[in-house]
Amino acid sequence: MTAADEVTTAHPSGARTTKLAVVGAGAVGTTLAYAALARGTARSVALMDVNKAKVDAEVLDLQHGQMFVPQAEIVGSDDVAVCEGADVVVVTAGAKQKPGQTRLELAESTVGLTREILPALVDVAPDAIFLMVTNPVDVVTYAAQKFSGLPRERVFGSGTVLDTSRLREAIAREAGVAVGNVHAYIAGEHGDSEIALWSSASIGGVPLLEWTGLAGRPALDEELRTRIAGDVVQSAYRIIEGKGATNYAIGLAGTRIIEAVLKDEHRVLPVSSYLDDYYGIRDVCLSVPALVDRRGAAETIEVPLSDGELHDLRASAERVRAIQQRFGL
Ligand code: 2OP
Repeated sequence: MTAADEVTTAHPSGARTTKLAVVGAGAVGTTLAYAALARGTARSVALMDVNKAKVDAEVLDLQHGQMFVPQAEIVGSDDVAVCEGADVVVVTAGAKQKPGQTRLELAESTVGLTREILPALVDVAPDAIFLMVTNPVDVVTYAAQKFSGLPRERVFGSGTVLDTSRLREAIAREAGVAVGNVHAYIAGEHGDSEIALWSSASIGGVPLLEWTGLAGRPALDEELRTRIAGDVVQSAYRIIEGKGATNYAIGLAGTRIIEAVLKDEHRVLPVSSYLDDYYGIRDVCLSVPALVDRRGAAETIEVPLSDGELHDLRASAERVRAIQQRFGL
């Protein structure tokens, strides 16, 4: 029996069910698989990693929690065939950031890996939507679009969905409101040149730049906004310094993006997608609010930008494009 047979025999009725394939059984891939199982994101989850002992152990551990989560199958293999027929393939495999290292410094090894694995994944899951999580995610997404040969909207990256969640959490904490009442985006590179889009942000329907603060709480003045945006950029470095990798929040962010695809939600998320004349920015994968649904990330939304935000977004695009060019993409 091949690994792929194991997946299909898990559904003796032959009913069409949703399948998520997670490539990479490191901290991010396994946490994402765990989050997907806990949330009931897909009816079957396949985990793939070249390290067979590791993937087998992770799958066993996940299987032992199945009594406590929505019904699902979880299988794993070191063979790419385990991803066969997946509706969504999430790629988390790749080099890990060392403390102090930037995401862009990982490009050399992760672009090479993308070149190697994307064609094989497309062979076994030709109808899938591909979600790239591996860093530097914008460059890796651009590479994956190229090496997959798929329509660009079917290959996109987790981008600044995680950074946006970090931003909203910080704003909500300072303002003293629920995180769901904050609307604000981080756009641009998932990395050091990312930009907080303050000019379009709002709290409970109030433009954030007009927020004067609840009783006993600060207004979100320029000093506080600068500190929050700086903390968001630095947060991954702080976590990597303390525990070697970030995993929980990206696991949840990835799962949320996958649900937007599988449930055809038309959800606005700042994923990294191919920009073709976004305020004049083109031929680069970068995060801006985009519509995520069963097609993938097919449309971007032109949020109003201040002059400063537009300037910084263009600079961020140039920085990512320079790395693309260095790798001949
Ligand atoms: C993060 O932002 C390291 O990209 C990863 O958590």
